Amino acid sequence: MPDVDKSKTGGEERKDFSVGVRHETPGFFLKGSAHLPWGMKNRLSRIFNPKTGRTLMLAFDHGYMMGPTSGLERMDLSIPPLLDYVDCLMCSRGGLRTCIPPEVNKPVVMRCSTGATVLKDLSNEVIGVTAEDAVAINASALTTQVCIGAPYEKETLSNLAYCINEGNRLGLPTLGVTAVGKEMVRDARYLGLACRVIAELGAHFVKTYYCEKGFDTVVAGTPVPVVIAGGKKLPEAEALKMAYNAIRQGAAGVDMGRNIFCADDPVAMAQAVRAVVHENASAKKAYDLYLSLQKRKKQ
Ligand code: 5RP
Repeated sequence: MPDVDKSKTGGEERKDFSVGVRHETPGFFLKGSAHLPWGMKNRLSRIFNPKTGRTLMLAFDHGYMMGPTSGLERMDLSIPPLLDYVDCLMCSRGGLRTCIPPEVNKPVVMRCSTGATVLKDLSNEVIGVTAEDAVAINASALTTQVCIGAPYEKETLSNLAYCINEGNRLGLPTLGVTAVGKEMVRDARYLGLACRVIAELGAHFVKTYYCEKGFDTVVAGTPVPVVIAGGKKLPEAEALKMAYNAIRQGAAGVDMGRNIFCADDPVAMAQAVRAVVHENASAKKAYDLYLSLQKRKKQ
């Protein structure tokens, strides 16, 4: 991120996130969600496993701005084999309707924004899917991205406000996504700012990127559950290490796309990430699982 004027961000020095002190959640298992209405809690309990408090979301909404990106050229072929291993789907309305059988009973986090593609400024978005249509398609949550520090920051916040306001009316939670432009630095200061802004506007959970240094302060400073995006494709061992580190530092799960569907063996990768998210598997144990599942398939 360009050098931020510290007087505008509350100053960098002397912050106390009390990392390690649990954010109490009386009466409901999810951070910051105790005072939500029943319908919201019920939908969140489909997205997050109440036993572990975590979720493995599969993101495959990339085509809404990237077109037929690698791994998603044929969503009807690449996504269904993964469905048994993930908790929740994050996708576009068209992707869901055309490629996912309606018998699949997984909660859906519906991508509601549109208006920009990789050919233009990605922050220049509007809302393209109404909350009513998301309900009609039986979504469990709405989502849009927020581009803090980008040319259309205000518009993306306004899109998020739409989702939250309309979702509140209908009992649908909203996932706020921190989209990070190329010119921004993915550090704890920037991500912490973006996540906090999103949570204070009223988003019910937040998706952000992992950062090596200070990710625990990003989580501690965000009063709702934080899930991480996978980002660009990494070697499988590295992606599992990132997921492990994020969970260890308080992430409530992952919303992973390319690092699952572009893996050498996507089905094995989904199971390995699942072990990290729900079984507290170490990165090594998860990678060993990945290799053994991959080997079994080849035999
Ligand atoms: C972009 C998104 C995408 O769904 C998400 O980031 C893609 O997941 P991955 O980075 O793991 O491929 O929310 O705003």
